[in-house]
Amino acid sequence: MLNCAVLGATGYTGAELTRLLLSHPDVRITHLTTRQEKPIPLSEVLPSVPRGVQLQITPYDFEDLRKKADMVFLCLPHTEAMTTGDLFLQAGKVVIDLSADFRLKDATLYPKWYGIDHAFPARLRQAVYGLCEVNRKKIRKAELISNPGCYPTGPSLALIPLLEKKLIKHDPVIINAASGVSGAGKKLVTSTQFCEVDGNYNAYKVNKHQHIPEIEQNLSLAAGREVAITFIPHLLPVYRGILATIYVEPAKKTVTEDEVRRALVTAYGKDPFVRVKPAGQFPSLKDVRNTNFCDIGVSLDARTGRLVIITAIDNLLKGASGQAVQNMNIRFGFPEGAGLI
Ligand SMILES: NC(=O)c1ccc[n+]([C@@H]2O[C@H](COP(=O)([O-])OP(=O)(O)OC[C@H]3O[C@@H](n4cnc5c(N)ncnc54)[C@H](OP(=O)(O)O)[C@@H]3O)[C@@H](O)[C@H]2O)c1
Repeated sequence: MLNCAVLGATGYTGAELTRLLLSHPDVRITHLTTRQEKPIPLSEVLPSVPRGVQLQITPYDFEDLRKKADMVFLCLPHTEAMTTGDLFLQAGKVVIDLSADFRLKDATLYPKWYGIDHAFPARLRQAVYGLCEVNRKKIRKAELISNPGCYPTGPSLALIPLLEKKLIKHDPVIINAASGVSGAGKKLVTSTQFCEVDGNYNAYKVNKHQHIPEIEQNLSLAAGREVAITFIPHLLPVYRGILATIYVEPAKKTVTEDEVRRALVTAYGKDPFVRVKPAGQFPSLKDVRNTNFCDIGVSLDARTGRLVIITAIDNLLKGASGQAVQNMNIRFGFPEGAGLI
């Protein structure tokens, strides 16, 4: 059995991760932690917890975690996971970080996009970006896995094979994405309160969202040159799910829709969690909600010559905790779908 700890277990991703780990056949949960001073019964945060599970979410105690856990999941706000991640790596633990603190390779991007200097830039070189279908080989040997962001997951899975195969131009890449409100986490902010969100649909952080450099990093690596994107996030008045609509141009006039779809099927045909839609069918949130799937649909508009690609994921699963469990499964040699199917 693998001994796992979840830090930040009271939050949305931490609770979802705990739910998944409870049904994982090869995992024992050693710690669920909070900054709060008194223990909290898990059932208060996760009412669906099976009767008989007596776990508590307890105050964070590094020494106790160090003794009992083999690996830790960090479900902490970004900028809060850097120091904690470094501590557990020094203690020889495997770390899967759900925040953005180890995702970007270039430390100079952190002040601009996250408002702080990176405290441990050497860890950025060590971190393996945990986009499972793309980096499986490296994940198997990683000590530090930086779990991808919710918005970057779908568009990166869709565009990486197409850029690698040179089926699309690296410019322009335009992504309009809409996320359910759980994407913003549990913390209280006015913009995600019920009265602000109910019946509404709005763009936010226009051209300023912190996932822009992460998506650009993924696409630049695939294209072998710098890719600059336009990325506009929107807030959807639903609990969970992200639908992204991506506009790109085929590399040549001779590229067909079928060729693009076949490239995606070839890239992901053996992957349990990426589904490429047949011609004329497109992803929808209800098809992926509460699952670890990423669905991808493709349409080449013969009139404009533009290629539209649509992706859908559940932000708390393939966009966070599901992908984190998938990463753990790959890293420790468990079946990739254990605890997820
Ligand atoms: N929500 C998503 O869809 C999603 C998707 C992908 C990645 N992520 C990333 O995953 C991380 C967790 O996101 P989330 O949505 O689960 O956030 P969340 O619901 O706000 O939960 C974060 C938890 O971390 C703890 N925490 C808060 N501030 C802290 C601090 N200063 N130091 C230590 N612990 C603190 C809190 O627990 P206590 O108050 O009990 O200590 C809180 O419950 C974030 O970095 C986020 O960007 C989120």
